[in-house]
Amino acid sequence: MAQYIAFLGTGGTIAGASERGHDNVAYRAGQLHLQQLLVQLPGLTPALGGRSFLLEQVFQEDSKDMDAEHWCILAKRVAHFLTRPDVAGLVVTHGTDTLEETAYFLSRVLPAPLLRAKPVVLTCAMRPASSLALDGPQNMRDATCLASTLGACGVLVVCSGQVYGARSVQKVHPYRLDAFSGGESGPVGALEEGRFRSFQPWPAMEICAQVPGLDFDQLNAMPVYWPRVEILMNHAGASGAIVRALCQRPQGSDPPLRGIVVAGTGNGTIHRSLRAALVEAECQGVAILRSTRCPLGQVVVSADESQTDFPASPLSAVKARIEMALTLAARVD
Ligand code: SIN
Repeated sequence: MAQYIAFLGTGGTIAGASERGHDNVAYRAGQLHLQQLLVQLPGLTPALGGRSFLLEQVFQEDSKDMDAEHWCILAKRVAHFLTRPDVAGLVVTHGTDTLEETAYFLSRVLPAPLLRAKPVVLTCAMRPASSLALDGPQNMRDATCLASTLGACGVLVVCSGQVYGARSVQKVHPYRLDAFSGGESGPVGALEEGRFRSFQPWPAMEICAQVPGLDFDQLNAMPVYWPRVEILMNHAGASGAIVRALCQRPQGSDPPLRGIVVAGTGNGTIHRSLRAALVEAECQGVAILRSTRCPLGQVVVSADESQTDFPASPLSAVKARIEMALTLAARVD
């Protein structure tokens, strides 16, 4: 049976275009069809390792505009290709800005047996496809090599020769080509001249340690009620005004607020004025979760069980928001 690598396009800078080749900032993301990126990709054939490819443009977005609807559509298409016995792995092109959120969402909702068997490799670019000095083709070739690597599995992110796991990956720079970090976990490995060099086991634990929340079967049975969860940041001078505004009866088609993730200062600390308003919101049935605005580490909770505080998440605020939404959505379902 012929074997394939499936490419799914979602937009981003990797498919972006600018009027001027030297301009790597003022461009429009999501302009080129995935097919245009693939036909002009040098070294695609060796990267495929004897396989053919399939491609699908799932949508064409600047990833800042992604929402849960995009994620659900993408998850279903990824699951479709993962279940095909003739597909060895997937490459998903994506904007860098919310790539870590899509990667985390996919790692949480796709069925674990599928993820344990094959890799879903998200890749991106920091420079548009019109740039005089491109990074997209190298990232795409690396992602193709990784998707073709024997034993590779789970949701992975490739950028600038580094491979990251979905749980730890984070965009840490707005301009540099190596814009991502795996935080304290570091990268899973590196792509060097088309070969994968491993630094640590595939993040299979992320796949095994599935926690309760909306699962793929529920997600597949659309329409899913996606709860509204907002993120607030604690800072010097933070007040409760924003929480009180959020808790007001929504206008127009806005859904009611179901949860708030606070990117707290340091170890998830919260200004007393903000805290007071959060306590009021909690009394009204809004779920509250603490994360930290620190780029490394996670909130450490007291060993003293009598501590009463909002629950803490070990995830970054944007991933904690996804986790909370999945949990609330599963309850509603
Ligand atoms: C986007 O996230 O779609 C635009 C920015 C990028 O891909 O670097």
